[in-house]
Amino acid sequence: MADYVGSESVSSEASGGLALDRRRMFQMAALLGGSLAMGERALAAPVALPSRGAPGMARIGSNEYWEGPVPDAVAAVREVTPHCNYYDPDGECDALIKLVASMEKVPVDHVVPWAGSTSPLVRSVLGMCSPERGLVTANPTFEVAWTTAEYMGVPLVKVPLRASDQAHDVRAMVAANPKAGLFYICNPNNPTGSLTPKEDIAWLLANKPAGSIVLLDEAYLHFSEAESGMDFVRSGADVVILRTFSKIFGMAGMRMGLSIGRPELLEKLMMADGHVLMGQLPVPALVCATASLKRPDLIAARRTLTARTRATTAEFLRGRGFKVLPSEANMLMVDWGRPAAPIKAAFEARGVVIGRSWTIWPTMSRITIGSPAEMQRFCAAVDPILRA
Ligand SMILES: Cc1ncc(COP(=O)(O)O)c(C=O)c1O
Repeated sequence: MADYVGSESVSSEASGGLALDRRRMFQMAALLGGSLAMGERALAAPVALPSRGAPGMARIGSNEYWEGPVPDAVAAVREVTPHCNYYDPDGECDALIKLVASMEKVPVDHVVPWAGSTSPLVRSVLGMCSPERGLVTANPTFEVAWTTAEYMGVPLVKVPLRASDQAHDVRAMVAANPKAGLFYICNPNNPTGSLTPKEDIAWLLANKPAGSIVLLDEAYLHFSEAESGMDFVRSGADVVILRTFSKIFGMAGMRMGLSIGRPELLEKLMMADGHVLMGQLPVPALVCATASLKRPDLIAARRTLTARTRATTAEFLRGRGFKVLPSEANMLMVDWGRPAAPIKAAFEARGVVIGRSWTIWPTMSRITIGSPAEMQRFCAAVDPILRA
């Protein structure tokens, strides 16, 4: 970090002149301020991590897949591990980039892998927002972008999802801040599993403020039949797509994600430490991701099983009189009709860790679709807890 600040401060040309310097200074101040503040917090009190469950519990709270990586990927990890004395035993990072580029039909310089997609998500806010150019997100949605904006003190507007179908209300989002720097679209959305139609994203790209970027988070895309927004990247639009291997690929603890977009946009995500590809990524995770992508048949089978388990769970809950929102991902939102927080605690006491609720919808819980056995355990706990 200190090296970076030093080299940037002597290189105003490299950072693109005065306007960009000012922006960079804000970003670096935000990064430094952020890490200092986090350090102080860590000294004051241990960070309270949300309960994700423990072995033996039904873990249906964090949208993980209930099985690990596909067998070929586990074998690839086993094979490469003895060679991990080298940063880059045999070009594993390049191999993943090339495979993703060919599968997605984009140039190789449009693909940057990360250790999960949280990091590029945070960095997108750092790199594309400023005191003048804010963030617009949906509500409810995955909160990492908005918590980063809050932390950095950039203008933030949270626009409620469209009531009729829980899609992102792109027209209201554009109207919300004519000087926005970043629009965060999670498709399918977390926590609803709802889809935003491609035409709406096209409208957003055509009508957003000049110079702003659309961050399209496709963490849950493979659970749905929906088309990716990759066409927008291929056509050179102001869009960056995020993917993660933490969900359907069963690699949450392995840590691997992707950002895909025009190189000059990806560069904005890499401002804090130069280039992320210089031996920064865990080789077992890289080969695990590459081997997983080579088995689309097994990923499709996971999609089918998840859809079936989701339908059975939703039917059960609706049969008990609870409202359940339609979902295209490995989660669903159920409305208990009363505060969700104590209900979550009651499930946990029975060994079932369900998901959280969002302030805007305090009577709803997010339920991850786990294995059929986990969902049976969840369903079996519903009557004792809610009809007691
Ligand atoms: C929508 C969305 N984006 C990104 C992430 C980040 O996942 P990871 O950092 O594990 O790739 C998550 C995790 O739950 C998510 O739900």
